[in-house]
Amino acid sequence: MSEVTHPVVRPRRLRQSPAVRRLTAETRLHPAELILPMFVREGTPEALPIQSMPGVVQHSIDSLKRAVAEAAEAGVGGVMLFGVPETRDAVGSAATDPDGILNVATRAVAAEVGDAIVLQTDLCLDEFTDHGHCGVLDARGHVDNDATLIRYRDMAIAQAEAGSQLLGLSGMMDGQVAAVRDALDEAGHTDTIILAYAAKYASAFYGPFREAVDSQLSGDRRAYQQDPANRREGLREARLDLEEGADVLMVKPALSYLDVLSDVAAISDVPVWAYQVSGEYAMVEAAAANGWIDRRRIIEETLIGARRAGADAVMTYWATEVARWLR
Ligand code: PBG
Repeated sequence: MSEVTHPVVRPRRLRQSPAVRRLTAETRLHPAELILPMFVREGTPEALPIQSMPGVVQHSIDSLKRAVAEAAEAGVGGVMLFGVPETRDAVGSAATDPDGILNVATRAVAAEVGDAIVLQTDLCLDEFTDHGHCGVLDARGHVDNDATLIRYRDMAIAQAEAGSQLLGLSGMMDGQVAAVRDALDEAGHTDTIILAYAAKYASAFYGPFREAVDSQLSGDRRAYQQDPANRREGLREARLDLEEGADVLMVKPALSYLDVLSDVAAISDVPVWAYQVSGEYAMVEAAAANGWIDRRRIIEETLIGARRAGADAVMTYWATEVARWLR
């Protein structure tokens, strides 16, 4: 009988050199699997910084076009546009107005980018309403689900006509995917892709985004976005969106919801994306600015974490920069 003085199984064998590690990596990042969210502000002649998101700006139409071209050049898979209008009202009229900032910007970008990158738009009313909610309000001041669906239908058609290839349904209204699919198909936009924010949580990680879009919201979105305590409910939302015809599912935020991402990826037969949101970005930038963390390694680790948990692609404010690292 001999004493075991050395292990027979040695997992370290596959970690011994960069070349071996590279060959045996289970997950990788690729520029095509990154999507860049972008803000475009009405009436500004040049890009304006967003204090709580250093490095991210509210674009003018011109700077937006340049930045989209840079993203495409870096190999980024898609851009997602958010509009910041000059004037807002109770029903978010600018969202459906062909001359509204998001639709104008979409047309401007569509004319330039062609097939180089997938042009996407956020389909939600919160940037356009004077109360900042994602839908229209009823007499009691609550978000009226079904009245909001009518607005989303019109918004979808306006965005498709402006040249958006993929609509990001981020409002968390019940039945929004079915309603928008029906409206698009009826108007002949059968090729327009629907990204359903299947699982979107009422998260404090959206904090800096509120500054980014000059949000008018007072209060919160807990009556329509999901409770961070709920995991099963993420699957329920994902299943409903699949039944309603979603082409892609989104889980949002990313970092604190990797379990949900993993669950959704396990049941989905369409691509699943993760949204690394404004607060995730801001935390890393703030810590890095203080010299407390290795910025690049942390960014890569958060992205690979989302991919490993099951995201086929990740929406991230670092998309262009990371795509350049990967080249
Ligand atoms: C709503 C919307 C929000 C974000 C994207 N779409 C804000 C919210 O739901 O409160 C947040 C994204 C981010 O924080 O980066 N249309």
